[in-house]
Amino acid sequence: MSTPTIEWVGDADGHLRLIDQTKLPVKTAVLNCDTVDDVWWAIKKLSVRGAPAIGIAAAYGVVLAASDSHESIKTACDHLATSRPTAVNLFWALDRMRRVAEDASDADLAECLLTEARAIHAEDAEQCAAIGRHGADLLERTLSKASGILTHCNTGALATGGDGTALAVLFELHRRGFAPHVYADETRPLLQGSRLTMWELNDRGVEATLICDSMAAHVMREGRVAAAIVGADRIAANGDAANKIGTYSVALLCKAHDLPFYVAAPSTTFDLSLASGDEIPIEERAAEEVTQPGGVTFAPDGVNVYNPAFDVTPADLISGIVTERGVIAPVDKGSVGRLITN
Ligand code: MRU
Repeated sequence: MSTPTIEWVGDADGHLRLIDQTKLPVKTAVLNCDTVDDVWWAIKKLSVRGAPAIGIAAAYGVVLAASDSHESIKTACDHLATSRPTAVNLFWALDRMRRVAEDASDADLAECLLTEARAIHAEDAEQCAAIGRHGADLLERTLSKASGILTHCNTGALATGGDGTALAVLFELHRRGFAPHVYADETRPLLQGSRLTMWELNDRGVEATLICDSMAAHVMREGRVAAAIVGADRIAANGDAANKIGTYSVALLCKAHDLPFYVAAPSTTFDLSLASGDEIPIEERAAEEVTQPGGVTFAPDGVNVYNPAFDVTPADLISGIVTERGVIAPVDKGSVGRLITN
């Protein structure tokens, strides 16, 4: 991608520049954030989205408060933490920024915070690359070359500081000449699959076909896909994984069709403080996202709407979790604990 998803411009007194993902695929617009509140809104409105990307953007957001005082850093972290509830990467990144602020002197504060935000960004890029390699090794071992692979939501360079999580696996397979045909769920209601994943796959020259979410069962029954791979926003200690609404349905469909269902996520997406997925907070978003997507009215005025942005896939439906440290399989409390220590 010629325009970076997330970029800090200038020195410690600089600003954050994001691709405004709400405008894709129609145009590649950038959004400059000069204040903590600009970053809060960018996260809230999904101008920047995807669990790792939210954490990275928030970390840079804290730097924007650094010219004031230590107290303003605490306020900034508390504020940014209210932007979205489900992706744990947000809280993980803010905790890192808080710890750095505690140890920094007033004179060094801005510089130390920028260094830490850049480190969070760079580490995520490295983790994406490792996830790509581990996931590609796994799928190369288990699938035949002609396989189709289904994915849901967007888990690529737009969602992370690097090449992505589930999409990094597909990009790596493509690089190796093991050419999977990707089936991308459109991912209602906000269409991250059709708007963002198809845009990224096209950009990289990966063979892909867009389907509506409701077509996944049919596509599996026809034998078009041999596996599904998705990302995650928060994974509990027992391996239950929260991801974009509709992911749980994909996992159930995989089980019904005897297909492997994989999750790809960095260790920063695990929350070992939660025993199971029942404890993961699920964001509910505005009714208009369902009734008026893109400003076009799809439902009568005033109807009741339930719009959870995420669902939880129980660990027993997950064939393996691909992390930067290797693959967790089978997925249970013991195997998660052995690979991940937060
Ligand atoms: O609401 P979004 O677009 O932020 O949801 C994103 C997802 O659910 C992704 O699948 C998840 O964050 C993994 S991103 C590598």
